[in-house]
Amino acid sequence: MIEVTGLIKRYGAFTAVKDLSFTVRPGEVLGLVGPNGAGKTTTLRCLAGIIPATAGTVRIAGQDLAADPVAAKRSLAFFPDEPRLFDYLTVRQHLAFVARIYGVPHHEALAQPLLEELEIAGKADQLPGELSRGMKQKLAIACGLLHSPSVMFFDEPLTGLDPLGIRRMKDSILKRARAGATVVLSSHLLHLLEEVCSHVLILKNGGKIADGTLADVSTRFANGEANVSLEEIFIRATGGTES
Ligand SMILES: Nc1ncnc2c1ncn2[C@@H]1O[C@H](COP(=O)(O)OP(=O)(O)OP(=O)(O)O)[C@@H](O)[C@H]1O
Ligand SMILES: [Mg+2]
Repeated sequence: MIEVTGLIKRYGAFTAVKDLSFTVRPGEVLGLVGPNGAGKTTTLRCLAGIIPATAGTVRIAGQDLAADPVAAKRSLAFFPDEPRLFDYLTVRQHLAFVARIYGVPHHEALAQPLLEELEIAGKADQLPGELSRGMKQKLAIACGLLHSPSVMFFDEPLTGLDPLGIRRMKDSILKRARAGATVVLSSHLLHLLEEVCSHVLILKNGGKIADGTLADVSTRFANGEANVSLEEIFIRATGGTES
């Protein structure tokens, strides 16, 4: 469960996120969409406790992020758009290191199936410099999933993956949501987002334009038309004068 109330993030005098409130329940996958610079990455970073919010409260699995960041962070994983890895740790050593930080017992038994699910088991003894871009992304994902987070934040998780990788990533997100995880993901790949998300939140200039189930949001912007794509809704919602 993610509960966000009155989230504001300012960088100096510039307000990147304006008074954002929403809730994501276990089993739900919320797609965070909006034009470049809308505040998606900033929002995700605030929710994951990577950067401090200027105001507002964030509760992760019932824990207040500001009051007890360690407790909140135990339940969450943040997958950045630009994964950061350790140059001198192999794939397997990354997982061992993350397991120690999060206190994951018997991590070998968990790491191997994760590497297989993400199809990098064959690279277990390679260094990041020996991996392709998509493989690095998969390693970062394996590291984030190792402590079995119940709340997951993905920033552009599908960019850079090959078509099969995209399908596997979508399946992997859906499998975890069905098992009760709470997921927020940002993406510009709206046709793919439609297949994974139960809900969407449209951001523009740091503010919420609309949120709800895909059906709710589409009804709001469809102007009575049937089968309007999320891409069309996005353009209507963010391109017009409504902001
Ligand atoms: N560290 C920072 N310092 C100052 N301004 C920042 C900083 N990070 C982001 N911003 C500004 O905040 C706004 C939101 O940026 P953010 O990265 O959250 O957008 P985004 O929705 O993720 O965009 P994109 O689709 O391009 O990834 C932008 O105007 C950006 O210039
Ligand atoms: Mg971004």
